[in-house]
Amino acid sequence: MELAQRNYQTSASGLEALFAASAPDVISFAGGYPDRSLFPRQELNHAFSSSFTNGDSELLQYASTAGYQPLREKLAARMTRDGINADAKDVLLTQGAQQGIDLTARLLLNAGDGLVVEGPTYVGALAAFDAYQPTYYTVPVEDDGMDLHALQKVLMTQKIKLIYTIPDFQNPTGTVMSLKKRQALVALANRYDVVILEDGPYRDLRYTGTNLPPLRYFDTQGRVIFLGSFSKILAPSLRLGWLTASPELLKPIMALKGGADVESSNLMMQGINSYLDHNDLDAHIQKIRTCYREKKDLMVKTLRSYLPDSCQINDPEGGFFLWLNLPAGFDAEDFMNNQLLPEANVSFVPASVMTPGHGPVNGARLNFTGPTLAQIQSGAQALGQALQSALSPKRLSN
Ligand SMILES: Cc1ncc(COP(=O)(O)O)c(C=O)c1O
Repeated sequence: MELAQRNYQTSASGLEALFAASAPDVISFAGGYPDRSLFPRQELNHAFSSSFTNGDSELLQYASTAGYQPLREKLAARMTRDGINADAKDVLLTQGAQQGIDLTARLLLNAGDGLVVEGPTYVGALAAFDAYQPTYYTVPVEDDGMDLHALQKVLMTQKIKLIYTIPDFQNPTGTVMSLKKRQALVALANRYDVVILEDGPYRDLRYTGTNLPPLRYFDTQGRVIFLGSFSKILAPSLRLGWLTASPELLKPIMALKGGADVESSNLMMQGINSYLDHNDLDAHIQKIRTCYREKKDLMVKTLRSYLPDSCQINDPEGGFFLWLNLPAGFDAEDFMNNQLLPEANVSFVPASVMTPGHGPVNGARLNFTGPTLAQIQSGAQALGQALQSALSPKRLSN
């Protein structure tokens, strides 16, 4: 059997490896999992049963590609409060932010078209983009977001159709794009006629400091597509996210969504709408923030006590991940597969799978939200000690 060419780009294997590294007996710092004890099980249970007993009589019927109107209204109001002026008509409900990435790629990318991604970036985005066979240009992420000098060089020399960025608590580095860079990035996109895909599933999860406006706030030409998601603030199994864009972009995206899956599940959309009618989502998010901040602080503190001097971590202001920087040339994937997993039963995501093609190998993404406090304590200690041993002069000379 001959498969289509699109199957032969390989980032999808990064996602598979990620789930494998999250097996039950492993202390996994690999997956981008929320803390399961924070899922509002009872509240969701009530909300879903109430949509069966008191809800819309069309609950089990086909609805519309755009998605359940009352939920779109609520999301438009939330985004407006956050600096993105939107009405219900500007919102499309998607199967997670992941579908928003796929639809945007489908909208814009012919095979070979120029796509800028951050290096490193979200491995699931690469898996989605790969199917459209783009030509990747990787722009490094700095402490304050994408390296815009490097971006400008790419834009000056290559035709780029799309820039994919995660400005808030970037996956995987945890960094936040500065205000100056947000403005400059939109200005560059205007100058070079490029669309920006702003992926914002972590925007609500800030633990210290205050949020900056989204890129879409600075967009005067309708070229920023914004993605949000319930996965990190309610539960990923709901598979519900949202997309907002200018009418010129939203209309064809909606047509593509119809072709992909007709519409998101009406049952899910109405259940979540009922949850929002009966619960205070902001209070729930506040609870999550308090828990994740404690976990993040513990991981940072433990790693700082056990890591050898040649390894550094950052201390992100929010999100799900922190970044471990390893000595130049040190292969994090090899270290995980041959030492960390077999000897200490701890996993992370190595840098090598988070850049298209061949990127730097000496880094890793560590998730602090999924594991328990006890797992963070013992896993971070084991990771630090395994690195001490791997980097000791004796082991290095073998
Ligand atoms: C940056 C980013 N975008 C999108 C997603 C996918 O989210 P969803 O579950 O909403 O599809 C993730 C999940 O980890 C992510 O980290």
